[in-house]
Amino acid sequence: MLVLGIESSCDETGVAAVEAFGSATPTLLAHALHSQIEMHQAYGGVVPELASRDHIRRVLPLAEQVLEQSGRALADLDVVAYTRGPGLAGALLVGAGVACALGAALNKPVLGVHHLEGHLLSPFLSADPPRFPFVALLVSGGHTQLMRVDGVGRYDLLGETIDDAAGEAFDKSAKLMGLGYPGGPALSKLAQQGRGDAFKLPRPLLHSGNLDFSFAGLKTAVMTQARKLGDELEARKADLAASTEAAIVDVLVKKTLAALDDTALDRVVVAGGVGANRLLRQQLDAACRRRGVRVHYPELHLCTDNGAMIAMAAAMRLQSGQQEATSVYAFDVKPR
Ligand code: KG4
Ligand code: ZN
Repeated sequence: MLVLGIESSCDETGVAAVEAFGSATPTLLAHALHSQIEMHQAYGGVVPELASRDHIRRVLPLAEQVLEQSGRALADLDVVAYTRGPGLAGALLVGAGVACALGAALNKPVLGVHHLEGHLLSPFLSADPPRFPFVALLVSGGHTQLMRVDGVGRYDLLGETIDDAAGEAFDKSAKLMGLGYPGGPALSKLAQQGRGDAFKLPRPLLHSGNLDFSFAGLKTAVMTQARKLGDELEARKADLAASTEAAIVDVLVKKTLAALDDTALDRVVVAGGVGANRLLRQQLDAACRRRGVRVHYPELHLCTDNGAMIAMAAAMRLQSGQQEATSVYAFDVKPR
């Protein structure tokens, strides 16, 4: 089964081809990605209309590139998968429209995939994929969730953010410090030159007794601290960045450990853009090593949005019988 996956939910156009035989873990044949970061940088964030237009420009050339690299032709495709949501409505419509048009033209079925399920299953693209069951920490720009995962489509939500997502906390704090967009990587880079204990920042809901998160208060605390510093901010920016990163990572690690306690599982999968964060990986690895818990991450370049995870999630859903591809090409997207 040859699956083409298209991702266009936000500011990356991603296309990939994945091949699946029987029930074996599908393999990635090729993937191509175009990031719009440079285009949006001038505006300090993603401009939805510009994102949609750029997806239109990029998606077909990327698809051609992927097929060529895979040594396959359009006619070889068995299924065309696309991100159905969540994401920006206009951006999603591009991927969905192209996928359904390809499906209709080739007389092949299509499959809409949940973006977060793509992230969740992205560690299966690595050479040493995880085994079910596991605890999943999903940390992206829009979501922060802890899940118990027993198999494809068998997901129990253990806890989630009640306000901002972890990536949002990184991005908004970075913006307050004038670090530009996307803030997470920029803040994390600057943090390497600072001290994580320089400023005392709140760890909201750390002792709440449940697995929910809250990051909105942290952003306010960072703003208050930045104002208090005034002229000194420039000189102390690295310390403030390091303290912010430390606070976010501390909460993510402790809640993940609590989820492991609650579920008595011994495997963790971390996915989503914030999963690329160096400090998070270091601290989670250290804490889990002490407990004999194995941590799986997607490969670094597959942590943020990409087409490979969409093709992979589609292939795994089809293999597990969780979903059937459809030849009804009247698509809809689910922005929320
Ligand atoms: O998964 P993703 O690419 O898109 C969404 O589905 O949201 O995640 C993007 C988020 C952004 O908030 C970005 O700032 C954050 O992931 N991010 C990072 C790092 N790399 C990306 N946050 C902290 N450290 C990083 N190294
Ligand atoms: Zn994402």
